[in-house]
Amino acid sequence: MQAQKSQTKSMGGYFQLHLANGREYYPDLIKLNTSRNALQYILEVKKYTKVYIPYFTCEVLLEPMVKLNIPYQFYHIDAQLEPIFDFEVGSTECVVYNNYFGLKQDAVKKLSDTVPHLIIDNAQAFFSEPVPKIDTFYSCRKFFGVPDGAYLQINSDERLSPENDVSTNRFSHLITSIDHSIEHGYADFIENELDFIGNEIKSMSSLTQAVLSNIDYQVCKNRRIENFTYLHEKLSSINELGMEFPTSTPAMLYPLLISKADVKAKLLEKKIFVPTYWPNVFRWTTQDTLEYKLAKNVIYLPMDHRYDLEDMAYMLAVLTKII
Ligand SMILES: Cc1ncc(COP(=O)(O)O)c(C=O)c1O
Repeated sequence: MQAQKSQTKSMGGYFQLHLANGREYYPDLIKLNTSRNALQYILEVKKYTKVYIPYFTCEVLLEPMVKLNIPYQFYHIDAQLEPIFDFEVGSTECVVYNNYFGLKQDAVKKLSDTVPHLIIDNAQAFFSEPVPKIDTFYSCRKFFGVPDGAYLQINSDERLSPENDVSTNRFSHLITSIDHSIEHGYADFIENELDFIGNEIKSMSSLTQAVLSNIDYQVCKNRRIENFTYLHEKLSSINELGMEFPTSTPAMLYPLLISKADVKAKLLEKKIFVPTYWPNVFRWTTQDTLEYKLAKNVIYLPMDHRYDLEDMAYMLAVLTKII
């Protein structure tokens, strides 16, 4: 037994990148390369014939339907960012709902009880636990410094057998930004994002899993809760976003709606980068829709585990000067 082991395992030589051998946050879920491929996995296993998907979501989520030639239909959301059901879900059809910014876990629970064939997109809600028996997927790089990776819960015993992904060539932006700056790594980040288009379903790479096993999730979660709570205390009175905000939430970002032009550009001048969710919504909808306004006017403030309350106070001071 010992002899056999020494034949397969190399010993000695140089050291690997040293990572602590910790625990992933969702060790028991299926580990894949991207969350769009997690959706494809669900569609392949469940053989749905039509997908209802929100107008307010990321365009890459259409990839699986295009690949598998499955028709899809967009639906609108209301001011609480919850689905407007002006359609009926057929017996072989499914509904994708996005747990927006990690703020909609109560809606996810409610919909889980009432909507048949529900698929929860938790790409923006890493810390929202999957509801038992509800197909749910996560995208790891939206929350942590990994180049790829997704988790999937699927309510089926059937399993696909994808080959292992390799992430070695996707780390450039993650490490360049340490030696240089976030700005230095930006072009590589964009290249990495484009590289995911059209990829087949693969299992999460060993390297991504190793990094994900090296994160102190409790610290990350607490920091997000603290930052989000602080921002909401300071900004709720001017926030025109009509939805209810949950308390104590390890959210993705803080969404702020204010009637003032050019705030995003002015924040950018001060090196506070706020994303647009999602540029495709401008093509999919018209200016009078809620989705268009969410994409155009909401400022998504960073508040993740990289920052503490001092950073939040600094960001608020910059913002206050602008508005
Ligand atoms: C809400 C949402 N879901 C899913 C995805 C796709 O994630 P991935 O790039 O891991 O496929 C994105 C964007 O990339 C997204 O914004």
